[in-house]
Amino acid sequence: MLSEKLLGKLNEQITHEFYSAHYYLAMASYFKNEDLDGFANFFIVQAEEERSHAMKFFEFIVEQGHEAIITGFKDPKRNFDSVEEIFSLALEHEKLVSSLINDLMALAQEEKHYPSISFLQWFIDEQVEEEASMSKLLNQIKRVGEQGHGILMIDRELASRTFTPAAE
Ligand code: FEO
Repeated sequence: MLSEKLLGKLNEQITHEFYSAHYYLAMASYFKNEDLDGFANFFIVQAEEERSHAMKFFEFIVEQGHEAIITGFKDPKRNFDSVEEIFSLALEHEKLVSSLINDLMALAQEEKHYPSISFLQWFIDEQVEEEASMSKLLNQIKRVGEQGHGILMIDRELASRTFTPAAE
């Protein structure tokens, strides 16, 4: 069983993860319109990952004997100005998610709720990877600039990304 406080925060995280999926899909849509299909693919796959994160929280809450609460959320930003802006926003967003996961872990530790601590450790590790991959791409984009060959090379590279469901 989960305390009311921890259950509330875990449920909120379902919404944050689904919102992340929507946000990244909005970014994918921008890239589709710019004919940067590799970047679009990267964010479509990222959106799938975020949905799978939401479902992990959903399953965990149910396994703990509670009801998972599904709520709505605000519209994500739609109008973007550049590739660099999008990756800056994506990195900023991942940092926000990391802080939410860290807060959840701190609460689980405070309550000595060991199943939650074990469950959340996967997300702590995942956030290290997510921030690193957004940060790396942002730096590469800054280096090559928005115009020219470099950005098309990155676009081509990102076209091969596929969604791999996380192991249980
Ligand atoms: Fe589910 Fe990208 O954090």
